[in-house]
Amino acid sequence: MPKIKIEGGHQLTGTITVSGAKNSVVALIPAAILCDEIVTISNVPNITDVDDLEKILLHLNAKIDRDKEELVIDSSKIENKEITQELSKKLRASYYFMGALLGRFKHVEMYFPGGCAIGARPINLHLKGFEALGAKVIEEDNHFIIKADKLKGNNIYLDFPSVGATINIMLAAVKAKGKTVIDNAAQEPEIVNVATYLNNMGAKIKGAGTSTITIIGVRHLHKCYHEVIPDRIEAGTYLIIAALLGKNLKIDNMIPSHLEALIAKLTESGVDMEIGLDNIIVNKVGKYKAIDIKTLVYPGFPTDLQQIITTFLTQCKGKSIVEETIYENRFQNLKELNKMGAKTKVKKDNRKAIIKGVTKLKGANVTATDLRGGASLLVAALIANGTTTIDNISYILRGYDKIIEKLTEVGAKIELI
Ligand code: EPZ
Repeated sequence: MPKIKIEGGHQLTGTITVSGAKNSVVALIPAAILCDEIVTISNVPNITDVDDLEKILLHLNAKIDRDKEELVIDSSKIENKEITQELSKKLRASYYFMGALLGRFKHVEMYFPGGCAIGARPINLHLKGFEALGAKVIEEDNHFIIKADKLKGNNIYLDFPSVGATINIMLAAVKAKGKTVIDNAAQEPEIVNVATYLNNMGAKIKGAGTSTITIIGVRHLHKCYHEVIPDRIEAGTYLIIAALLGKNLKIDNMIPSHLEALIAKLTESGVDMEIGLDNIIVNKVGKYKAIDIKTLVYPGFPTDLQQIITTFLTQCKGKSIVEETIYENRFQNLKELNKMGAKTKVKKDNRKAIIKGVTKLKGANVTATDLRGGASLLVAALIANGTTTIDNISYILRGYDKIIEKLTEVGAKIELI
């Protein structure tokens, strides 16, 4: 099993270019099967989640051409086969094949999706949406059959603004008869990216990015060319690294307005950022103030940056309190962080953590517990005294395109061993 080895303490200078958004492209790829013609997606990140989704498309006999960041998908001749448990388990986003196959064939058979163990992560809201559109859901120990004679638009209220449920219902509704309204929809930028993509194919979606999305069903979706938006969580990860080690370090090809909450909190702590149109230049400042973080749905502070900012908070003077409101088990990385000298404590309801700073971190052998937890350890290793090895790095490679190359480029001592 490969590991990442990092020698900490090196100043980082130069430019890091952000890749396409994982949480957008993992929806764009399954959604391509709604289209009866060829779909071209550009700015596709080179991450294993994309590889795993391609395996599922090939399993359905779609044709795929991948040339660096460009992906061409021809699903004109796909077969509607059951998606095996092994393929369904590879990632959380396999569940987008539910909405896409339901929308295309009115029938889908697959298993409960995979994804990081950061909570129970049920899909009840997805299924409630499909049923509202006229589908029948048969679930038997993690196996799902979802089918409909016809899909008819309806008004759907989401008890929680779930990103996955919002997108999945959109996929099932674009070819349903009549009008669908999703109320209390999630507003993440990735949802806007998926809606724009479907509209480029001829769908009729309005309101993406707000809490009410309206979809008018259409019969046919034609070919389209679409670009993945920059990954705001990757950009945020590098922004936090820059605050800790940057000297004139530019995070390029990003959308600052997608990171308002993070930028506000880093500014509050004393980080020096020069914000451009599609980049941010950061210079490390000597000392930072402790701050409190509370994760919320977009545009609040993103839960996906919660674990990564806890590493930053170990370098902030004072006591910081982090509250995780989205997932019930997203502090697992802290026990590994404490092995490197961090002083963190999780409160017994597992929803709040206290981070004491400033603590000197020292190199250690640690294990990634999940994707963003792994990223938090990588950030810690970059600032720690001495050498760190990180195990279970397949988590990290799921969501960070060329992270070793990008960090090496700006002066980090990081390698795969
Ligand atoms: C997406 O997951 C992202 N993953 C997650 O990123 C991200 O943390 C999350 O949105 C929130 O922003 C992908 O896009 C592939 P949710 P998703 O449905 O769709 C509960 C990363 O690190 N819920 O908004 O699964 C659920 O249990 C990953 O890149 C239900 O109860 O998120 C969770 O507590 C991690 N029932 C909360 O809602 C449902 O039917 C948020 O889930 C669906 C969700």
